[in-house]
Amino acid sequence: MRVLLTGHKGYLGTVMAPVLAEAGHEVIGLDSGLFADCLLGPRPETPPGFEVDLRDVTHEHVSDVDAVIHLAALSNDPLGALAPDLTYDINHRASVRLARLARDAGVKRFLYASTCSVYGASGGDALVAEDAPLRPVTPYAESKVRVEDDVHELADEDFTPVFLRNATAFGFSPRLRADIVLNNLVGHAVLSGEVRVLSDGTPWRPLVHARDIASAFAAALVGPKEAVHDKAFNIGTERNNVTVAEIAGEVAEAVPGSRLVITGEAGADPRSYRVDFARFREAIPGFDCEWSVKDGALELVDAYQKYGMTAHDFEQRFTRLAWLKNGISVDDTLRRR
Ligand SMILES: NC(=O)c1ccc[n+]([C@@H]2O[C@H](COP(=O)([O-])OP(=O)(O)OC[C@H]3O[C@@H](n4cnc5c(N)ncnc54)[C@H](O)[C@@H]3O)[C@@H](O)[C@H]2O)c1
Repeated sequence: MRVLLTGHKGYLGTVMAPVLAEAGHEVIGLDSGLFADCLLGPRPETPPGFEVDLRDVTHEHVSDVDAVIHLAALSNDPLGALAPDLTYDINHRASVRLARLARDAGVKRFLYASTCSVYGASGGDALVAEDAPLRPVTPYAESKVRVEDDVHELADEDFTPVFLRNATAFGFSPRLRADIVLNNLVGHAVLSGEVRVLSDGTPWRPLVHARDIASAFAAALVGPKEAVHDKAFNIGTERNNVTVAEIAGEVAEAVPGSRLVITGEAGADPRSYRVDFARFREAIPGFDCEWSVKDGALELVDAYQKYGMTAHDFEQRFTRLAWLKNGISVDDTLRRR
């Protein structure tokens, strides 16, 4: 397939592009490149593509492709809170526009990177499946719910949207993010010797490795239409349904000599959800996630040490909010300068 991959110069896109290419697809990227220079280690090979803002996408960007995988977004809760209007412009309105352009251009399949944070304040220990009530608690998560609702309306016989609700990602990517929980805790532990948890550690936070997300998208791209058409899927594994305190415990074990401190100073975190991932395994027989939290923590320790992670880069270059706030790469509408 000829696949347009938006967000190909992000944390997940940089891992996903080679997985798609290895599966035999021709990948064309589309990204404004906000984090193109946020690299840890050697610069990876990047597929050819468009350097364009999602808000400026036109018909020609989606013509001649069989499928769109849409990752480009302001990609976390703190970013969404920085500029909720921009979050809705980019994540919601521009995404729905992209889907409409794709459908009108004859694109057959549209895979959308949604998130398990649509379940928001689900609370409790019961597993939430895809038909659970959505309780987003941030503009970021709300923007994802709106896209799912609006793109669902575009589904028809010739246009198959699929909504992949990813758990929180972890693991090495050449375009690292240090602002997601495991990557963050490992970095602090390597740099300071302390695994520091500011919440009380009780919230459930399901995790999934970036490469397992890439494999899930690759599988959904070619899965039987009747199995995936217009459906939402949680992406992850019950084995990685862990609490923040458990994640911190794995990190303390992966970083020899580090000390676990749960301060509780940030109070209770309302985002807590424990997720049921069965629907995707049933739709795509044979699919399962491979990476455990422990293996991901060890992989990150190794990468941070091998590539000489510094405290400055950890806090600035690899923290999406800090990188955008420094204003070097973007104007005040978050367009790349
Ligand atoms: N990483 C996670 O834990 C996680 C979990 C669930 C869902 N997701 C979703 O997966 C997708 C990718 O996440 P990521 O972790 O790779 O984030 P990321 O921030 O690393 O990458 C996002 C990419 O989108 C691009 N982008 C942002 N705004 C743009 C715009 N206006 N025009 C063009 N390009 C733009 C950025 O340049 C960047 O390359 C996002 O939609 C995110 O919401 C991520």
